[in-house]
Amino acid sequence: MSRLIVISNRVSAPTSEGGTGAQGGLAVALAAALREYRGLWFGWSGEKTDEFTGHIDFQRAYGVTTATIDLEEQDVDEYYNGYANRTLWPLFHYRIDLAEYDRSFGSGYERVNERFADTVAPLIEPDDLVWVHDYHLIPLGAQLRERGLRNRMGFFLHIPWPPSRLMVSLPAHERLVLSLLAYDVIGFQTEEWLESFKHYVERELGGHCDADGWVHVGNRSVHAAAYPIGIDFKEFSEAVQSDGARAAYERMKKSADGRRTIIGVDRLDYSKGLEERFLGYRRFLEEHEECLGKLFLLQIAPPSRGEVHTYEIIREHLDELSGRINGEFAEVDWVPIRYVNQGYPREDLAGFYRAAEIALITPLRDGMNLVAKEYVAAQDPEDPGVLILSRFAGAALQLKDAVLVNPYSKEEISDAIHQALQMPREERIRRWRSMMDVVEKEDVVAWRQAFVGALKGATPQAARAAG
Ligand code: G6P
Repeated sequence: MSRLIVISNRVSAPTSEGGTGAQGGLAVALAAALREYRGLWFGWSGEKTDEFTGHIDFQRAYGVTTATIDLEEQDVDEYYNGYANRTLWPLFHYRIDLAEYDRSFGSGYERVNERFADTVAPLIEPDDLVWVHDYHLIPLGAQLRERGLRNRMGFFLHIPWPPSRLMVSLPAHERLVLSLLAYDVIGFQTEEWLESFKHYVERELGGHCDADGWVHVGNRSVHAAAYPIGIDFKEFSEAVQSDGARAAYERMKKSADGRRTIIGVDRLDYSKGLEERFLGYRRFLEEHEECLGKLFLLQIAPPSRGEVHTYEIIREHLDELSGRINGEFAEVDWVPIRYVNQGYPREDLAGFYRAAEIALITPLRDGMNLVAKEYVAAQDPEDPGVLILSRFAGAALQLKDAVLVNPYSKEEISDAIHQALQMPREERIRRWRSMMDVVEKEDVVAWRQAFVGALKGATPQAARAAG
């Protein structure tokens, strides 16, 4: 049987057999795939070294082998903080106003992808399936091909693909997109991002796209499709029933003291729409004086990418805005926003979600958004909460029974909170049931089986070259 080689910027070694604990759902799911197929998970250790040597640190934990490399400070600055998170991340989230184009970022990105290719290529055997993840590593497939690899290779993009009119603002965009064609299968989170990709291929590269998912450019043909990622439903349902989740639920209920809880959980990132969310909630407080003191917003927002300036700025804005709203509306025994800058283990989050009557998840743009799905999976079937979800999250295409809002509109956010607070139990149950069916059926196991299945079915490069 072919092995599976997973390559991503970050690697997360399993911390337990089943996966519960601090690890994210994706990490748990990939670990499960690696156990099934053997193989290994390769990427950056997150550590810096004075001089890149190509030394690989192999670890084996709970049936999964990880292989990581350290990067030089300049690599991290130009590749991770630079091209990945100052150029591609904002551009792919439609924020060309925040995207920075610096030649050194582009060359650092190429260099680190080369370093990945040089180090991982000797570990790959001819029959292995290679699965590359996310915007940090778009050119890696082409670089592996240059090193003679003819394996079946797939790429999955976890974030949106921008409309062509934005994509063309990236210097050397053709080169980046052409490098994607070295893969055999390209996966996107939703049909919307897939359409944008195909539009780009036809308009900018002169390619054409078949109705059955094939994309042709020159003599290259690639299979491109949408594979919406899900949560690990089984593992998360177990977390919901755990002692840790129960304790977290009790803790929240006790401290809410009869008040209704609105929850948001997001990495501290400008794409998550946190400022707009706070302003929408503020509008609600202004419009509904009768609710003052009777509810609060619990916003959990662990900081991320702190070395990138735009993240420092968003953090300052949110400190200021949450303080201002609290100062404006708080009473001696009540604050409207509990703004928390730390992360919590999954079991705690499961308990917090279940304790919250409303989830307010309003990214301005999001590849998928798994918090929305986790919130649904954590609810009490007899008395579920209401999910308010941005139309611009990939998850909105699947969770059609959420209360969908335009995250830029304070009025829509305010009205949605009001609607959620008034919503009769039967309606809550009906909406939740239909969303729960999707979350359960289209889970992360189905996702990886669909993707790996497509990859296995791809014609290996060697056979194609011979044919
Ligand atoms: C998004 C990206 C992931 C990334 C994660 C956390 O979900 O799609 O590739 O790992 O954010 O960001 P970080 O920069 O901390 O890895």
